[in-house]
Amino acid sequence: MVAALHAAGVWKVYPSGEGRVDAVRGVDLEVHAGEMVAITGPSGCGKTSLLNVLSGLDAPSAGTVLIQGDSLFDLDDDRRTRLRGERLGFVFQAFNLLPVLTATENVEIPLLLSGQPAHEVRKVALEALASVGLADRADHLPAMLSGGQQQRVAVARAVVHRPSIVLCDEPTGNLDSVTSNEVLDLMSNLCREEGMTFLIVTHDDAVAARCDRVLRMRDGQFLDGASEEA
Ligand SMILES: Nc1ncnc2c1ncn2[C@@H]1O[C@H](COP(=O)(O)OP(=O)(O)OP(=O)(O)O)[C@@H](O)[C@H]1O
Ligand SMILES: [Mg+2]
Repeated sequence: MVAALHAAGVWKVYPSGEGRVDAVRGVDLEVHAGEMVAITGPSGCGKTSLLNVLSGLDAPSAGTVLIQGDSLFDLDDDRRTRLRGERLGFVFQAFNLLPVLTATENVEIPLLLSGQPAHEVRKVALEALASVGLADRADHLPAMLSGGQQQRVAVARAVVHRPSIVLCDEPTGNLDSVTSNEVLDLMSNLCREEGMTFLIVTHDDAVAARCDRVLRMRDGQFLDGASEEA
């Protein structure tokens, strides 16, 4: 079966003054459909840089990234944008909800971007909100929601278009441990019940411990023997 995500020889080099920062240094990675994989490591080791390349947000300096067998950086900009919109979902530490839109309207965004007719998206968005336990907060603006509720809206938005893989950068970084566990419950249910794939960058050992596999990163590389069952 083709991997949900396959990366080979990924480098990310940033120019820096006269020199350069080698943020990601030759990473190989394969994530299978339905897996929940954590990437951990100290601040500055290259986790976000790697995730940005794996998600097609930022081009690698070298290497390849395949999403379900399709080479992300061999596509032209339009096709890459379409592939990202259809097959990938994103969750960030800072929720990134649009403050002037209600919870429902925030969740509708990926559906509207993928060209679904406006009159059809409301029902789908409301179902996604219900699935994260927020049916009764559908009309609330982000400022009227707690941090955990905002992140649950962000998870609903990330999965509403049924992506094959959801990439998360410190998804629980702004949450207390109880709320963080609720968000993790949500993700593992989507994993177990719907076969969705999660790749989660985290500082938090408690989050990593709930994943199927933990990859430890140092200085732009995975540690030898980094792959382990949690
Ligand atoms: N746009 C950029 N330009 C230049 N250097 C960068 C850029 N983004 C990141 N870096 C450098 O690349 C290295 C890796 O940064 P990155 O953000 O990937 O780390 P991280 O593991 O996500 O850290 P944190 O846990 O603090 O989020 C750091 O040394 C950082 O300063
Ligand atoms: Mg980071």
